[in-house]
Amino acid sequence: MPTSLVSGGSRGLGLAVVERLLGRGDRVATFSRSGSESLARLGAAHPGRLHAELLDAADAGAVRAFVGRVAAAFGSIDHCIANAAVAHEGVLATMADAEIDAMLAVNLRGAIVLVREVVRQMLVGAEGPSITLVSSVVAAQGGPGLAVYAATKAALEGFARSLARELGPRGIRVNAVAPGFLDTDLSASLPEEHRARIVRRTPLGRLGLPADVVGAIDFLSSPRAGFITGQVLTIAGGA
Ligand SMILES: NC(=O)c1ccc[n+]([C@@H]2O[C@H](COP(=O)([O-])OP(=O)(O)OC[C@H]3O[C@@H](n4cnc5c(N)ncnc54)[C@H](OP(=O)(O)O)[C@@H]3O)[C@@H](O)[C@H]2O)c1
Repeated sequence: MPTSLVSGGSRGLGLAVVERLLGRGDRVATFSRSGSESLARLGAAHPGRLHAELLDAADAGAVRAFVGRVAAAFGSIDHCIANAAVAHEGVLATMADAEIDAMLAVNLRGAIVLVREVVRQMLVGAEGPSITLVSSVVAAQGGPGLAVYAATKAALEGFARSLARELGPRGIRVNAVAPGFLDTDLSASLPEEHRARIVRRTPLGRLGLPADVVGAIDFLSSPRAGFITGQVLTIAGGA
């Protein structure tokens, strides 16, 4: 039974990924700063297979200890989905230091530290190991008010490509998914006219849902993607 670690599994895309991976039979470990009823329900439905903790992705020591506990409890960590992120929208000229720091600390440093800790475990032993980073289409396409957020995601894509080369010889695959705008809490503040504009320029004619992205993450973190590494898969309805 593979073990998958998903950061930010309390809601949105992370919650949908946790549900999918439990559904396919994995043991799943996840963390977020606060819990959710949906996650608690999943834990009750899959006794002994969901390990959820409350911690901050920006706290490197807490992440290191968490990864150690998961490896001790489940024996190995075979797949890692680095999903937790925050988005502060706003023009750069008025953006506060704290907002810039939060995005760098959670989206970029937090993901890098998490992956480093997981890789240390994978090198000891894992079954068909894979790492999937959650990026965004704005990494490649840009977006007004999203410069810092886009910078963190573009950096993650570079991280994925380099790490794929570094870890390929050890049998660890590293990929990223780049979703378009998803209807989740993260994009809840998006003004209605902005949403309508995204829908107009999306060939498939709607915003994405977490359900549109989980299939790709399930695939990339499975033996079916056993010869795929260093790739960024855009999931944005053609936009
Ligand atoms: N929504 C979109 O339009 C969109 C588009 C493209 C890509 N993405 C990417 O998709 C991923 C998931 O986004 P989403 O829309 O599902 O976001 P979401 O609904 O806001 O969920 C984010 C998850 O990450 C957790 N999280 C945030 N900050 C954290 C921290 N410091 N420490 C630990 N956990 C933290 C949250 O839990 P807590 O708040 O309780 O900590 C939550 O579980 C992100 O990487 C995002 O950048 C989203």
